[in-house]
Amino acid sequence: MKQQLEQIRKDALAAIGQAQDSPSLESLRVAYLGKKGQLTAVLKQMGKLSAEERPVIGQIANEVREALGGAITAQAKKLEQAALEMRLRRETVDVTIPGTPASLGHRHPLSRILDEAKEVFIGMGFSIAEGPEIELADYNFTRLNTEEGHPARDWGDTFYITPDSSVLLRTQTSPMQVRAMETMPLPLRIIAPGRVYRKDEVDATHSPMFHQLEGLVVDKGITMADLKGTLETLVKRLYGPDSVVRFRPHHFPFTEPSCEVDVQCFECHGEGCRVCKGEGWIEVLGAGMVHPRVLAGCGIDPEEYSGFAFGVGLERLAMRRFSISDLRLMFENDVRFLRQFS
Ligand code: PHE
Repeated sequence: MKQQLEQIRKDALAAIGQAQDSPSLESLRVAYLGKKGQLTAVLKQMGKLSAEERPVIGQIANEVREALGGAITAQAKKLEQAALEMRLRRETVDVTIPGTPASLGHRHPLSRILDEAKEVFIGMGFSIAEGPEIELADYNFTRLNTEEGHPARDWGDTFYITPDSSVLLRTQTSPMQVRAMETMPLPLRIIAPGRVYRKDEVDATHSPMFHQLEGLVVDKGITMADLKGTLETLVKRLYGPDSVVRFRPHHFPFTEPSCEVDVQCFECHGEGCRVCKGEGWIEVLGAGMVHPRVLAGCGIDPEEYSGFAFGVGLERLAMRRFSISDLRLMFENDVRFLRQFS
């Protein structure tokens, strides 16, 4: 029996030392120390031994059990340690390998100018509205005091969608004035940026699609002074405190009086040069006091309320702001061009 025990010890220790993972270690534990294990089987025969032999063999059996238990625990630790080392090795990051640079895009100059303008207007308490590019002629013209037969409604200038001229691609953001007055509570202070469409040939300063930013303020006691202050603030915030603004009388069917706003040429300071085509000034927007007929058409009493509106050409602003000489550059989206703006 003593020999049997020694054999078990020898075999088991060898097998445990060879175990490569915890499941095989566990099956070894069951095979030797389990209820039906080899060691247990030997111990069950202890009854057959004489009284002298029993304590001797018992002690050996205990030693073997302890030795096996200890070996199993030690091997388990070894396996665990090896697994950990392997995981660490696998997960090692070589910090000296050059990284993959994440290439960041650039904001388009138009987005930049729009963001800047929004910022200025939000600071003055305006909120931002958006409207459809496919518009009813009713909103784009009629309700802006531009009756049927008005030259602005000509098929040569406007992209009509229906043959009866009732639906079109908006030619200006001004229909948003009517939409806002119809649906929003007074007092009103909104800007509405977006795309507009006109049948223009493409050249350095024209495109059949471009962007405008409409502004509208309606309240009691609004005057031309509010209009001038607001637009001067916009120009000075965009182009610096030294920029000079000029208000020039003009005509729009839906404002009275109307004006156009010019910014003094940043290049020649009014002398006249190539940039401003000898004018000394660059036109940036149209504006005026909302025509009483337009107010009344939206259910607003012109005796009680007054307002001003303006429409800024965003491409014009961006071209001036970033000294871009050709409008087409802004729509071609050549990355070599765009990369210059952050
Ligand atoms: N909608 C006009 C244009 O496109 C600009 C404008 C807007 C004029 C608002 C007056 C008031 O030229």
